[in-house]
Amino acid sequence: MSVEEEYRRLVEEIMNCTKCRLHQYRRNPVPGEGPLNAKVMVIGEAPGRNEDLQGRPFVGAAGQLLNKLLELAGLKREQVYITNIVKCRPPGNRDPQEDEVKACLPYLLHQIRLVKPKLIIAVGRHSARTLLELAGLQWRSMSEQHGKTYHGEIGGVKLMITVTYHPAAALYKPPLRQKLEDDFRGPIAAAVRE
Ligand code: URA
Repeated sequence: MSVEEEYRRLVEEIMNCTKCRLHQYRRNPVPGEGPLNAKVMVIGEAPGRNEDLQGRPFVGAAGQLLNKLLELAGLKREQVYITNIVKCRPPGNRDPQEDEVKACLPYLLHQIRLVKPKLIIAVGRHSARTLLELAGLQWRSMSEQHGKTYHGEIGGVKLMITVTYHPAAALYKPPLRQKLEDDFRGPIAAAVRE
């Protein structure tokens, strides 16, 4: 089966998924988007209100900021595969629960195996923790680990993981914006070039 066909089937599965309670609340699942040969994957936490309405990741205010941050790292949004840890919006944007993450994780692993990114940018602490743990690495805290690049393997794919703050956090805590910009301009840009 071609990568495109395998991906098409995966998206279809996500669109019809009822593996956890989040399917009861969603308007649209948000599988992810971007080129299947992307070198860089951005992984957020969960779709928000705008994403749920449009069925696309990072299309609200946090998404606008993410697009600008990607440019600081020399990337265009169109070059990057963007997705989330969970594919359906948790009600009221609450954090995804442990069992919801567990139910959804096989989709993310399948996406990583198909795209085989060289670099994953994990935005936000839930994404950072989940991805570092998938790679057998230790999660401690964002203040300690943001801007750090780790080498690891997820689903048999050797890759780098850089963790940073969630763009949405910078919208309500403006001092974080500088840290995010520094991370994208510095260590993330360096990892993209590596
Ligand atoms: N926040 C996320 O983590 N993901 C989105 O897709 C949008 C906002």
